Amino acid sequence: MFESCPSPDKPGSFGVLGGAKFVLGVAGDIAAYKAADLCSMLVQAGVNVEVILTPRSLQFVQPLLCRGLTQRPVHTLASEHWSEGSAGHVTLTPDVEALVVAPTSANTLARLALGQADDLLGMVALASHAPLLLAPAIKHSIWHHPAVQVHVETLRSRGALVVGPNSSRPASRMNGDGRLAPVDRIVGAVRLLLGRSDSLGWTRIAVTAEPTHEPLDPVRFLGNRSSGQMGFAIAQQLIDCGSAVHLVSGSTARQPPIGAEVTRIEPAHEMASATHAAVEGANALVMTAAVADFRPESASAHKIKKRPDQQELELPLVRNPDIFASIDRPGLVKIGFAAETENLVGAAEEKLRSKGLAMIVANDAVSTMGSERSTATLIRPGRPARNVSNVSKVELALLSADEVVDLVHRPMGERPR
Ligand SMILES: Cc1cc2nc3c(=O)[nH]c(=O)nc-3n(C[C@H](O)[C@H](O)[C@H](O)COP(=O)(O)O)c2cc1C
Repeated sequence: MFESCPSPDKPGSFGVLGGAKFVLGVAGDIAAYKAADLCSMLVQAGVNVEVILTPRSLQFVQPLLCRGLTQRPVHTLASEHWSEGSAGHVTLTPDVEALVVAPTSANTLARLALGQADDLLGMVALASHAPLLLAPAIKHSIWHHPAVQVHVETLRSRGALVVGPNSSRPASRMNGDGRLAPVDRIVGAVRLLLGRSDSLGWTRIAVTAEPTHEPLDPVRFLGNRSSGQMGFAIAQQLIDCGSAVHLVSGSTARQPPIGAEVTRIEPAHEMASATHAAVEGANALVMTAAVADFRPESASAHKIKKRPDQQELELPLVRNPDIFASIDRPGLVKIGFAAETENLVGAAEEKLRSKGLAMIVANDAVSTMGSERSTATLIRPGRPARNVSNVSKVELALLSADEVVDLVHRPMGERPR
């Protein structure tokens, strides 16, 4: 029996992070103050965070800050913990699910690559077999030095995930690409790291998200109220479950989950061709995108102008291709989302049948579109429908991903067609 995705009853709203034990190492780096923000975000996601401050980082942050955030002792010198009756790295390392070093200084990077054990962080890194995530904040000229790059490659070759440093102004106001990655991106990277070993490992899933935009002229389009939040949340949950996710997304300022391969599209015909490409070799297709059924017959090459006497504008529309119906590959598990304003379950069941779906999530369009929350019914052939009322989209994404795990792992013959 395969393990299912993390369930929403785990503490926190980040699913895979809830209840996990992390070591957060903080190096003596100008960006060390941002470690407090990261620590807070992890704690709020339900992670048990053990903070190790390098001796040099104590010049930048006070242990009390991290102690207040984690409600746990903060670890500094290996020797202190031995003398307190606890055996330093020996008591810290069991059950650790990730070792996150943020910020990573050039010095700590070198020590980790060389396996030096002259402080507690170095000892823990050697004693633990947990995945390692490094978030360097190292200014341009230093980061690109061959000595630093050799250490980065060494750590990567051992499986470490390196996020950043980012371009743009670092905390010290110097130019270059030395900035610590934003903390939400670091959290996204940890989720990718943890997901690598989870229940959907080695599967490929295509996810569509966001509304399509059908151009009227160079400045106007026909769209809809979908926010795309659901698709991005599903993509994140599937990454948490270890799947390689190809996200086909309408244009949005929303940041895609770390680790997703992303294809940006605008009109439905672009979504159709991008989705056909994304399902090549995929195990499942999850379509959350709100695709326009019709598009303007032709888009004007120039901005449409109103004449002084004009009261009406005729806008002939033509049918868009039905993406779901056009994709029918044996073995591909198709999961759909339907937003309806009336006859919710009946209309969704009809869509499920006519498009050969393994599952459909029927959303109440009025309460769901553009909202943070959703009221929905999960429908799978041969199973009782599952109703959820006024849940967050993250919770609904968790429930849906759980079903995807089950469907993808079912033997082919047992899959509904
Ligand atoms: C004000 C100040 C800012 C620093 N900022 C950085 C930095 O952004 N990145 C870096 O790699 N080192 C930085 N350093 C140098 C590190 O503090 C130094 O290499 C130290 O030995 C790091 O020790 P640790 O990696 O054990 O914490 C800075 C030092 C000072 C005094």
